[in-house]
Amino acid sequence: MAHTATARAHPNIAFIKYWGNADEKLRLPANPSISMNLDGLHTETRVSWDDSLASDMLLLNGVEESGRALHRVSLHLDVMRRWLGLTAKARVESVNNFPMGTGIASSASSFAALTLAAAAASGKPISERELTTLARLGSGSAARSIPAGFVEWHTGKAHEESYAESVAGPEHWALMDVVAILSAAHKEVGSREGHTSANSSDLQGARVAGAARRLALCKQAILERNFAALADVVELDSNLMHAVMMTSQPPLFYWLPGTLTIMDKVRRWRAAGLRVCYTLDAGPNVHCICVREDAETVRKELSGLSEVVDVRLAAPGGAAQIVAS
Ligand code: PMV
Repeated sequence: MAHTATARAHPNIAFIKYWGNADEKLRLPANPSISMNLDGLHTETRVSWDDSLASDMLLLNGVEESGRALHRVSLHLDVMRRWLGLTAKARVESVNNFPMGTGIASSASSFAALTLAAAAASGKPISERELTTLARLGSGSAARSIPAGFVEWHTGKAHEESYAESVAGPEHWALMDVVAILSAAHKEVGSREGHTSANSSDLQGARVAGAARRLALCKQAILERNFAALADVVELDSNLMHAVMMTSQPPLFYWLPGTLTIMDKVRRWRAAGLRVCYTLDAGPNVHCICVREDAETVRKELSGLSEVVDVRLAAPGGAAQIVAS
């Protein structure tokens, strides 16, 4: 008999970035990070543990996968099997309502939904904190897609200590992420390889050394709903991560010419009074974080730029949740 559950999780955008691991195997991050879940975007994943299956199966957006994607999911299912005390193989069906590999991190929502669905389908009770540590082993940023709203991921020195928790719910602050999509092409170097090469940059040590201070400033700005303070630290932290990427061996340049154009525009719009700032993940797309009242103006401005192929809006999102069993 198959034991089935379906979970839904949002991607998240980091305000203070995770880049590089202190422990590659346990995926203990080099620095703490903080992010906002993105409402309206999600991965929905159905897991069926099934004793009659000879091997794990993966259907991604309706297409059966056999290569790298299945291998990565199967490795995570091994982690879940060990933790849940199961031997059965699983059938996994996963659907994203947003394009993959475009700078909107699909690995975060995918591994958060997979972890929650796999645990729920087993029937074994599991705390939110444990779920975040297990999701982390699939993809670091997935730990932050389990709790609701604005979420901090603690570095930790051991598996159980490296967990994520909500610092404020989605209703706390009406921020919006207005994502300027410049390219829907799949990125050439994924974050996985990037984390491994972070230490080859002379700048990584300095970035990591200041991360706890930036995180404290960012958390305070969120708790006080202080946009000016948030904007300063969010842009600084994104610039620092990209400086590390560009100075790693081999160097990683994620920006397109349009990326720089938009970063410049965002700074000008803010100087002219709009409450907006930028942050970028491992891709060329620019996440414009703004207050809700200014989101429509930002969307219109971005849509008028020739470099922008699409614009997505997302409010703060809730926790990963079970949607069917
Ligand atoms: O979780 P990963 O391995 O996909 O890494 C995420 C890396 C960034 O998106 C660039 C930063 C972050 O903290 O989300």
